[in-house]
Amino acid sequence: MTTKLGRKNCDNPAVLAWVEEMAHLCKPDQVFWCDGSQQEYDQLCEQLVDAGTFKRLNPEKRPNSYLAWSDPSDVARVEDRTFICSKNRDDAGPTNNWRDPVEMKETLRGLFAGCMRGRTMYVIPFSMGPIGSPISHIGVELSDSPYVAVNMRIMTRMGSAVWTALGDKTNFVPCIHSVGAPLAPGQKDVSWPCNKENKYIVHFPEERSIWSFGSGYGGNALLGKKCFALRIASCMARDEGWLAEHMLIVGVESPAGDKSYVAAAFPSACGKTNFAMLIPPTEFRRWKITTIGDDIAWLKPGADGRLYAINPESGYFGVAPGTSEKSNPNALKCAERNTIFTNCALTDDGDVWWEGLTDEPPAKLTDWTGKEWTPGCGRPAAHANARFTAPMQNNPVLDPAVDDPNGVPITAIVFGGRRATTMPLVFQAFNWIHGVYVGATMGSEMTAAAAGTLGQVRRDPFAMLPFCGYNMGDYFKHWLRMRKHIKRPPKIFHVNWFRKDENGKFLWPGFGDNMRVLKWIIDRCAGRVYAEETPLGWMPSADDIEIHGVEKFDCNQLEKALAIDVAGWKREALLQDELFISLHDDLPKELLFQRELLIARL
Ligand code: OXD
Ligand code: MN
Repeated sequence: MTTKLGRKNCDNPAVLAWVEEMAHLCKPDQVFWCDGSQQEYDQLCEQLVDAGTFKRLNPEKRPNSYLAWSDPSDVARVEDRTFICSKNRDDAGPTNNWRDPVEMKETLRGLFAGCMRGRTMYVIPFSMGPIGSPISHIGVELSDSPYVAVNMRIMTRMGSAVWTALGDKTNFVPCIHSVGAPLAPGQKDVSWPCNKENKYIVHFPEERSIWSFGSGYGGNALLGKKCFALRIASCMARDEGWLAEHMLIVGVESPAGDKSYVAAAFPSACGKTNFAMLIPPTEFRRWKITTIGDDIAWLKPGADGRLYAINPESGYFGVAPGTSEKSNPNALKCAERNTIFTNCALTDDGDVWWEGLTDEPPAKLTDWTGKEWTPGCGRPAAHANARFTAPMQNNPVLDPAVDDPNGVPITAIVFGGRRATTMPLVFQAFNWIHGVYVGATMGSEMTAAAAGTLGQVRRDPFAMLPFCGYNMGDYFKHWLRMRKHIKRPPKIFHVNWFRKDENGKFLWPGFGDNMRVLKWIIDRCAGRVYAEETPLGWMPSADDIEIHGVEKFDCNQLEKALAIDVAGWKREALLQDELFISLHDDLPKELLFQRELLIARL
């Protein structure tokens, strides 16, 4: 079957055997081998338009761009349907949903049997990272969703060149995906097929394989992203001595021409894409910010003792609502053309709109469910998790080293979260072990993908809670161990852009003005600026952060943003107990000692 149906350029026996096996199980009507060409992309998009999944947007407003509306039941990652199936339950640890791999395989084989009837199985070869880089890894996704195929072409290096790089090696990550909606003969398809009853996002860490069933949306279906580049890659990284992290990577060039790279981990919905593309304020116009990545970083120790990073992705799967000329003009430029929009609203003239894009909403729209929408009708026009899938080449501040197979050297690692209280604007960890403690205990207020009460703090160690493919305690140990392999480690910082005053108003302006904090971080790494030793770590005084030019802002506000609330921090130390107790069996003692030291300093 595989050869008959247009296999292109792939002679790898392991791939051929696996595709054959999966086709036999899933029973698609045909198998389509993606070559990754523009022509193929255009044809698949045309086919998606004909099927009603895509609306072609007005080519004058959004050239080569499309809008998809998902089924209302399929709008975000499903963390409670995400499983880590290691042989041993302890290897998944208390923060993951574990199932016995043998039992899970049986369940999945049952679900996948015949699940692609009436559909095409797309064979999608992809490289996470520049093809051929020693830091990159190859995956092959089989999916019955052409929407997935075209999104994967933007988000990864996808196509025939991957077969050449793979040769006859067997170390590719097999990723099988189905929307779980087979078609009976003559049955009419829907515009967004998915399975409303059954969703399974399953990882087999020992086998390094991924099985995803029932959802066509985002991280559930574009398996290179969270499933491979974080969950499976974190296991590979533990075994091979590197780090697979939920981090953006940003380049910072000073007026003197010194270039540094910073990797930063923030939980979902903390403005990572904004930070990765920030535009410095006028007073900092001679500083240049460039993007390597906005979501994921793979970091490996280099021969010179520094840590080198690549962005394994090649596009941005950005949250649309809130993206505006004010919050992120560069993201708007990324989505100007050649972009796939999902669950945004449609304007009368064939363009997209979402909450926050403009101060004044258009007088009339079609909302993401296809209904007529007017301002004040009481419903959001775009879904809160509406997305744009945009190629990184559209980014006006794309870093020139983005395809460098050696990656870029990391000077600083930044952790952050969305915290209304307690967390000051910025502090620097005393050393690597203290930095690991800071990363391990970070947290944020609740987001859409995490079912819970909005406003409550969710501990999200290293922003990896939903993405670590193994035991979180072992993950902390791995971070501690890595220090031995990095002779010139990056300095570690914590930031909080979201602290509020007693009236609930944000203390810090955020967005482009975050450059002011970034400059302090870079200056600290270069040893150019003095810092104060505090119970939390090294901190700037209000004079050290340049605030000249910030609108309606004064030193008093900055002092509040930097203040150490001792009572709040004692509470914080107590609240960490919940995390530490849940991870107790595998928690490295270093972290307990760090907490003791913090309490002693307070
Ligand atoms: C994302 C996430 O979509 O972290 O990047 O949820
Ligand atoms: Mn993310």
